[in-house]
Amino acid sequence: MDRTAELVARPATRAIAYDPANRPRSLHVRAARVLEDNWTGSSTVPSRGLYPHQWSWDSAFIAIGLRHLSPLRAQRELETLLDAQWGDGRIPHIVFNPSVPLDAYFPSPDFWRSSTAGRAAGAPRTVQTSGIVQPPVHALAAWLVHRADPGLSRQRGFLARVYPRLASWHRYLLHRRDLGGGGLASVVHPWEQGMDNSPCWDAPLARVVPAPARSFRRADLDHGAAEDRPTDLDYGRYVRLATDYRDRGYADGEAGGRVGGYSDGEAGGRVGGFAVEDPSFNALLIASEHALAGIARELGATGTARHARAERLTGVLVDRLWDPARGMFFCRDVRGGGLIPERSVSGLIPLLLPTLPRDITDALVRTARGPHFSLGDTTRLVPSYDLLGEAFDPHRYWRGPAWFNTGWLLERGLRTHGERQLADGLRQSVLELADSSGFAEYVDPYTGAACGTTDFGWTAALTLDLLHGEPSWDTYGTSTTEIKGGDRG
Ligand code: SER
Repeated sequence: MDRTAELVARPATRAIAYDPANRPRSLHVRAARVLEDNWTGSSTVPSRGLYPHQWSWDSAFIAIGLRHLSPLRAQRELETLLDAQWGDGRIPHIVFNPSVPLDAYFPSPDFWRSSTAGRAAGAPRTVQTSGIVQPPVHALAAWLVHRADPGLSRQRGFLARVYPRLASWHRYLLHRRDLGGGGLASVVHPWEQGMDNSPCWDAPLARVVPAPARSFRRADLDHGAAEDRPTDLDYGRYVRLATDYRDRGYADGEAGGRVGGYSDGEAGGRVGGFAVEDPSFNALLIASEHALAGIARELGATGTARHARAERLTGVLVDRLWDPARGMFFCRDVRGGGLIPERSVSGLIPLLLPTLPRDITDALVRTARGPHFSLGDTTRLVPSYDLLGEAFDPHRYWRGPAWFNTGWLLERGLRTHGERQLADGLRQSVLELADSSGFAEYVDPYTGAACGTTDFGWTAALTLDLLHGEPSWDTYGTSTTEIKGGDRG
């Protein structure tokens, strides 16, 4: 039974007030309305204008909020996405809505040609999708959705149906995408990591010859201010990488093998292309491994092997991406070699992981509070990029603005590691800015001014999640102590 209507009209019962003037109730109602308006009948669009289809990591975050309004719709959100999974296990970053005109969004289905170009990789025949992926937040979302209404979930066999698909998704990432050969997943396109134009990609993207500007037409500029969006040069490179990947049948290289986007000047050697190990993408994969352990346990297995794998992967993440001198994680350029020396919010997100050593969590908190991110001091939420970095721009997409999903992830991470005061402050910021910005896509980290689009799906969803507040948040369905060893005995 769908309880949306009832809950839309009801204030959050477990909320901790952030403003005595009855704002939480009104904020809850307005956030619920955004999700209502963005619901298409089987999934939720991130935004009616700018992003009119289903996006993979958006849907996962949206389901995390939607579970408080309608656990049934939250389950459907994830099921619709998983119905578009490819045979090789990948979950596509966009599932296209066939009733939306082709020119409403670029790149459209006729660019990706998933059902033909993706046939060898097992793309579905009946639904059109993109051929790249997005961060694996899905198992975490499925677990949290289950826990919102375990009775309904059991009755519908929700976890039993999604578990094999989520397991196959993780297998795809850990095997087919281990392009660096060190045990982490690589992204082969900036859109896969989700922080499209982060300065982290500037060096690896510089090797990619942009597609000519006249060969495509951007639709995003019809809906967003050009100064808030990636540049045309970035888009040329995004298009080149996606075209090359498509033309290779979306085949992933073997470890150390070829990836797309070669510079013409490198013919002969044919090395290069874009392949990056990213801290946030891999941390979300590990957090989702812990969640899969919870799901396995609910389905009658022990979950022990999955927790152990998540713990081992946490060690690999530290070995490959941690920089002790700078106190944060960095991206690794698998083709160019070495860590990319740009400080991105991505490098703080591993704080979400429950088995990170104490010295590392302490250092991450110090870095977040320090001059590069200024958490709880001169900035609102957490800027997406180094405040002191040369490329910092407070308005341009992922080159500085603060986003609500990263705010939510860090709030959860701070709480996981007992940083209650900082977590409370960040939660407060998320709620205030979601309210004042009209559920903006992202905000200027100094002024809190809205950027991009408004009535944005995950902003509304994660606002709802924080309004429902779970003060002793238990992400993984088991205590951190248990994950750290208690259930392996
Ligand atoms: N975030 C990208 C966009 O702006 C692609 O997923 O369309």
